[in-house]
Amino acid sequence: MNKRLCYLLILFIPLFVKAEQKKEVDLPPLHHVVKVRPSSSIQVPKHYPLNDKKEIDCQTCHGIDDIEETPWKDVDKNAPDFFRDGPYSQLTDFCYGCHQKKSYERPNIHQLLDENGKYKEEDCEYCHDKAPDPEDQLNTSELTFRLPPEILCFGCHLKTPHLNALNHQVKPDNEMRKTMREAEKRLNIILPLDKDEKIMCVTCHSPHQIGLIDQNRPAGNQVADTDLDEGITYIEHPWNQVFQSDKETRLKQLAKSGNEVHTLSYQRIKTEVLLRASARDGTLCQSCHRFER
Ligand code: HEC
Ligand code: HEC
Ligand code: HEC
Ligand code: HEC
Ligand code: HEC
Ligand code: HEC
Repeated sequence: MNKRLCYLLILFIPLFVKAEQKKEVDLPPLHHVVKVRPSSSIQVPKHYPLNDKKEIDCQTCHGIDDIEETPWKDVDKNAPDFFRDGPYSQLTDFCYGCHQKKSYERPNIHQLLDENGKYKEEDCEYCHDKAPDPEDQLNTSELTFRLPPEILCFGCHLKTPHLNALNHQVKPDNEMRKTMREAEKRLNIILPLDKDEKIMCVTCHSPHQIGLIDQNRPAGNQVADTDLDEGITYIEHPWNQVFQSDKETRLKQLAKSGNEVHTLSYQRIKTEVLLRASARDGTLCQSCHRFER
């Protein structure tokens, strides 16, 4: 939510300038630019009409008849078609109909392969000191990173991107270490620990898009039943509020009862990506935890 608002603010900054130049049009202050031909970076949906000069105009964005002739204060902004295909719960969803969402977001650094399965070394070097060869078999401790691997993810992700992420940044005891080593063999995966032998983000998550590293190798083996654009999704509606309250109930459940509930609470995952093993069916959790069955 905040993230989106932030983009919106950034997006609107140049409009201050444009609004000044477009004084002849009776438009509210900070209104979007009008009467310009879309550049190649803009994709106007086919059913949004352009004017006869092929420019974006009132009718392109607004489904209100004669909006030009109406004093802007009298226009019914709550009409569903005030914005084409509206109403929108987030104004940015309307913007992204024409503007490319990607260019306003943090780069999805996990998307490493292009259509031909090729990668750019500079993308690797966002994390690695020097791009390793995907064929190389290396231990996490042999690799050098621009930041220690346990904090690599924090620039773009929160320290607590989800329930339990922080609780998990601890050193597993010997018994759990044994369970982990067994799971690594049984599942043909890696569960790398940091230099202090603590759990880190990449203990559970693969940082790489599936297919970059041969999937038959432990470091390349991962769960991905969807693409990176969709990402990890949940059965519930992905709106933030719903998701937050979902976490609240999860927290309450965790506080109340024993271990089985934890696996239960993770069964609401719908699609998984960038995980070393499936959390949806409990495999990931059970590669460290031994739950009573
Ligand atoms: C109908 C398509 C369309 C929609 C919807 C749309 N835009 Fe635009 N936007 C354009 C076009 C066309 C330009 C002109 C620049 C270009 O062609 O690259 C533009 C330019 C801009 C600019 C740059 C202005 C400048 O000074 O050059 C900003 C900022 C912007 N839009 C923000 C938004 C925001 C925020 C929204 C949603 C509230 C939005 N746009 C919705 C088509 C659209
Ligand atoms: C590229 C899309 C786009 C085009 C083209 C466009 N608008 Fe808008 N219009 C918007 C957006 C986005 C808002 C909402 C701005 C806001 O309030 O944040 C808006 C808001 C408005 C409002 C309500 C303002 C208010 O706050 O009360 C009026 C009236 C309006 N536009 C009239 C026009 C007219 C007249 C034209 C043609 C000259 C036009 N628009 C062209 C996107 C567009
Ligand atoms: C988001 C950060 C990040 C990016 C981007 C990234 N890596 Fe990695 N890479 C890691 C981390 C962390 C490890 C250690 C944990 C592991 O092996 O998964 C690693 C491990 C590796 C390994 C060793 C795997 C093994 O055998 O254990 C190879 C090879 C590798 N990366 C290649 C690449 C290549 C090639 C690219 C670019 C196409 C790339 N990485 C991009 C973070 C990243
Ligand atoms: C103990 C294993 C584990 C650790 C450690 C862990 N994660 Fe996760 N992560 C998961 C699981 C399982 C999911 C999917 C289910 C969920 O959200 O609980 C997930 C989901 C995510 C998501 C997607 C969240 C969403 O709702 O879209 C992000 C982003 C993420 N993790 C980043 C991180 C980062 C960054 C760290 C390190 C601070 C981290 N994870 C540590 C297991 C882990
Ligand atoms: C350059 C920024 C950047 C860095 C660094 C980064 N990520 Fe991400 N990551 C993203 C973006 C962007 C997405 C797409 C979803 C989003 O916007 O949250 C994403 C998605 C994910 C997801 C899937 C969540 C989903 O639902 O799409 C996981 C899991 C994840 N990252 C884990 C990690 C881990 C672990 C690291 C550290 C090794 C890391 N990320 C480092 C930018 C980054
Ligand atoms: C890489 C090993 C590892 C994985 C994978 C893992 N855990 Fe953990 N988990 C730990 C460690 C270590 C602790 C902290 C020590 C302890 O409480 O036993 C912990 C603690 C917990 C706790 C207690 C948190 C607290 O506040 O005390 C819960 C609940 C939990 N894990 C659930 C899960 C679930 C659910 C999954 C699967 C999504 C999972 N774990 C995956 C290692 C792991």
